[in-house]
Amino acid sequence: MNLKQMYVSVLMFGVGGLLLFMYLQAWIDEQYAESEENLKQQISNQDIKFYYTEEPKRAPKMLITSQKLDRSHAVLTETVSSQANANPFLEIATSLTPELSEEQQKIKLLLKQFKQVNLSPVMRPLNKSLIKDDHWKAIDEVQEKRRAFLYNFCKKYIKERRPLIHLMRMVSRIYVEDKHKLLYCEVPKAGCSNWKRVLLVLNGLAKSTYNITHDTVHYGRHLKKLDSYDLKGIHMRLKTYTKVIFVRDPMERLVSAFRDKFEHPNSYYHPVFGKSIIKKYRHNADGEALTTGSGVQFKEFIQYLLDSHRPIGMDIHWEQISKLCHPCIINYDFIGKFETLEEDANYFLRLIGAPEDLTFPNFKDRHSTEERTNSEVVRQYLAEIPATERQLTYDFYSLDYLMFNYSAPYVEP
Ligand SMILES: *[C@@H]1O[C@H](CO)[C@@H](O)[C@H](O)[C@H]1NC(C)=O
Ligand SMILES: *[C@@H]1O[C@H](CO)[C@@H](O)[C@H](O)[C@H]1NC(C)=O
Ligand SMILES: *[C@@H]1O[C@H](CO)[C@@H](O)[C@H](O)[C@H]1NC(C)=O
Repeated sequence: MNLKQMYVSVLMFGVGGLLLFMYLQAWIDEQYAESEENLKQQISNQDIKFYYTEEPKRAPKMLITSQKLDRSHAVLTETVSSQANANPFLEIATSLTPELSEEQQKIKLLLKQFKQVNLSPVMRPLNKSLIKDDHWKAIDEVQEKRRAFLYNFCKKYIKERRPLIHLMRMVSRIYVEDKHKLLYCEVPKAGCSNWKRVLLVLNGLAKSTYNITHDTVHYGRHLKKLDSYDLKGIHMRLKTYTKVIFVRDPMERLVSAFRDKFEHPNSYYHPVFGKSIIKKYRHNADGEALTTGSGVQFKEFIQYLLDSHRPIGMDIHWEQISKLCHPCIINYDFIGKFETLEEDANYFLRLIGAPEDLTFPNFKDRHSTEERTNSEVVRQYLAEIPATERQLTYDFYSLDYLMFNYSAPYVEP
């Protein structure tokens, strides 16, 4: 083989690998979308038993198993499966690589452990050895109920927990605090700014939660996300760290996001989301609204949210919690609620042995004079939209309602 031929074949391998990777990625995304749809369907039919139980369609084996594989291919398949963490790929990778290098063996073992340890429903007991008095008794009882509730929900309805979503995406909203061994899954509009302040202090990156500005919290690059670690680092942390999530009533969270992003000047949400929303859903929109994207109405926002052909994608501020944090796969140890934010958070800080003078901050740093989004405010917003759309909005967040035992909003018809 001369140099040119070699060059060409290396190039072909590269291109082939890329195409294969893109193909598999698309396949995973499709599977994920399908299973989400399935679950919704089954919940609305009150027959939720079969979520994730169907055998996922096999990845067409011939794509990978064309006979003339060499080491570079083997490495490629391993890479694909380690990133995807989907079982069918693991099987394929195994079937075609008789002699794995030590490194590949390790990856394979990790993937296996991942499958066994993190993806079976487990409810680890909370370690309460640092709690010495009865002060937190009532809050602890509520916490244990919530944990059991979520555990039972996931066990009952999600029989086989195959990770049909890209692992890296699954952990991409989780912040890491290595000193106290914490994983915090960020749910926007549920106290996340103050949580990030607390994490900065726990980490030793700030002295107090009080002097950290909103921009430092959200745009400073101090806190690490779980997806910035390698597979081994992710696995170790998921297995041994205390995993915490704070949730909020879905409709309150939605209305709060709408008010924050569309009722105040915003140099991102107005031009990006506002413009597309007004263009599609407002008839006879005037030129100014079309150029600035300001002044989106709640009912227009809901039309966008429920549209199966949204002119612009979703956003973390109104994405379902079930999709942001995957509560049935990650096995969170502590489930806080925005409705009882301070007491839950302070109990949690005592559980993990945070410094005694560190308490959860109670300030609201943006639009601080405005009334907080509470159930009365939500009722007013929901009254603006037709009953059918209210129901569809509720359906849209049905998993979040069910997993965290929130009750459906009541609005007079
Ligand atoms: C519980 O936490 C304490 C204090 O952090 C620690 O010493 C102990 O080993 C932990 N127990 C378990 C079972 O993890
Ligand atoms: C916050 O900053 C102000 C001014 O920079 C300072 O006077 C104050 O002591 C700081 N507060 C804390 C709690 O560090
Ligand atoms: C679920 O919510 C209902 C109504 O708010 C409440 O009565 C019940 O105790 C909750 N269940 C659990 C397990 O928290």
